[in-house]
Amino acid sequence: MHRSLAAAAMAVILGVWSGASAQSTVERGKYLVESIAGCGNCHTPMGPNGPLPGKALAGGLEIAHPGLFTAYSTNITPDPETGIGKWTDAQLKVAIREGKRPDGSLIRPPMPFELYRGLADADLDAMVAYLRTVPAVKNVTPKSTYEIPLPASYGPPIDKVIEAPPRTDKLAYGAYLAGPLGHCIECHTPPAANGRTQYDTLLGAGGRQFHGPFGLSVAKNITSDPDQGLGKWTDAEIERAIRKGIDRQGQPLKPPMGFAYYDRISADDMSALIAWLRSLPPRKTP
Ligand code: HEC
Ligand code: HEC
Repeated sequence: MHRSLAAAAMAVILGVWSGASAQSTVERGKYLVESIAGCGNCHTPMGPNGPLPGKALAGGLEIAHPGLFTAYSTNITPDPETGIGKWTDAQLKVAIREGKRPDGSLIRPPMPFELYRGLADADLDAMVAYLRTVPAVKNVTPKSTYEIPLPASYGPPIDKVIEAPPRTDKLAYGAYLAGPLGHCIECHTPPAANGRTQYDTLLGAGGRQFHGPFGLSVAKNITSDPDQGLGKWTDAEIERAIRKGIDRQGQPLKPPMGFAYYDRISADDMSALIAWLRSLPPRKTP
């Protein structure tokens, strides 16, 4: 506590207080939830014309993986009866980062807990602060069903403060954006036969399949591989794909990647993200 206060004071004195740290906590939370984290990409119900108006973060979107589960996202607006209005900040933090509800039950896939366990405390606090400010929506969501076995927990309780890598370390910060904050790497890394994401051997190699109203969508190879991946793309082409959902040939990309959310990613964060993508060793899609 004292150390971080001293560091903050020092940052002000040295004039290195970055644009991001000058944001209020709620603004920071809004930025994260509505851009790189894209919580609404799963938690806001969709109609044929996109997110349903007046239902932001109210849950009920169906996410089906045939043979594995049919999940429905939950209501994370402050409604006290059907949302998270009665949860304390501490309970909400544990729910988002450790996958446990106040009643002790496990929050299940596809909420990306393996990665959310790495969320920094300051960012988590900011997200929680922002979630308190969104309009409360009364919305009861259907129950999720699972055919796969689920763990008892996602790991031991987190009892120490997690800090984000410094922004000055562009690659490390880019990895934090692509991992804990944005879960790009979960969708873009293929699962093994046992369902585990093969981060160690096939990070970014693509091939994971998604089914939805959009039909079948297969995650692309985002490694630096020159033929299958982004090796020959320009930075502008990569940025256009992430923000606008347009591929190198100018063709539209299909959901479920949350382009509308990613379009709000700041220029600095986009630059770190692209630098990190370029650093991924080439790998072929299995
Ligand atoms: C890939 C989809 C996905 C993303 C991204 C996602 N969630 Fe979820 N979330 C879900 C699903 C599905 C559930 C319900 C799982 C279940 O039925 O156990 C859930 C459950 C929750 C719950 C438990 C609520 C309750 O009433 O039980 C909270 C809190 C939550 N999410 C917050 C968030 C926040 C905050 C973010 C963004 C930082 C986020 N989620 C991103 C899919 C997602
Ligand atoms: C919910 C899953 C999901 C998430 C999260 C996701 N993507 Fe994607 N992404 C996809 C899918 C699926 C495609 C291919 C869509 C298609 O072929 O129409 C894709 C396409 C792309 C492409 C275009 C590649 C090409 O060859 O056309 C890039 C670049 C990309 N994603 C980068 C990212 C980055 C960076 C992030 C994180 C900020 C991210 N993705 C998050 C699922 C996801």
